[in-house]
Amino acid sequence: MLDIVKIGDEVLREKCTPVTVFDDALHILLEAMYETLEAADGVGLAAPQVGVDKRFFIVSLPDGTKREFINPEITGFSVETNPYEEGCLSVPGVYHDVVRPSKVIVKAQDANGVEFTLKASGLMARVIQHEYDHLDGVLFVDRLSEEERKKTLRAYEKKNRSKRRK
Ligand code: NI
Repeated sequence: MLDIVKIGDEVLREKCTPVTVFDDALHILLEAMYETLEAADGVGLAAPQVGVDKRFFIVSLPDGTKREFINPEITGFSVETNPYEEGCLSVPGVYHDVVRPSKVIVKAQDANGVEFTLKASGLMARVIQHEYDHLDGVLFVDRLSEEERKKTLRAYEKKNRSKRRK
């Protein structure tokens, strides 16, 4: 099981670098990330969240869909947007509506370096955009208004303080 890096750690603010080698080490890391994500009861996990500054993330949806996105590029966004309540394993315990395009087209490579294109909607489109942001050092709280962001981060700090006291 891998440790999930929390907000405040530098690696979450880095622009990650492309994956160039698709070897056993990558496959083992992906496997460990799926286990970590499952244990944390999340739907997506990006490499920087486990301390690796590389451009990839995994998605694991409640309907059983599992997919890894290596060197992803979001090549199309729908004009239509929708709000959806997001959380993040790196900012645990707080949630807030974030408005994003409801559909995206993403190009990426799989664990063996094979390129694919996916048209995504619903939860998949949402998770792809949230995880993609992580690769550029962006967290969901950065997508909120200044006021909402401060409120959410205060709630996070408060929650963390009381957790530490226990
Ligand atoms: Ni996140």
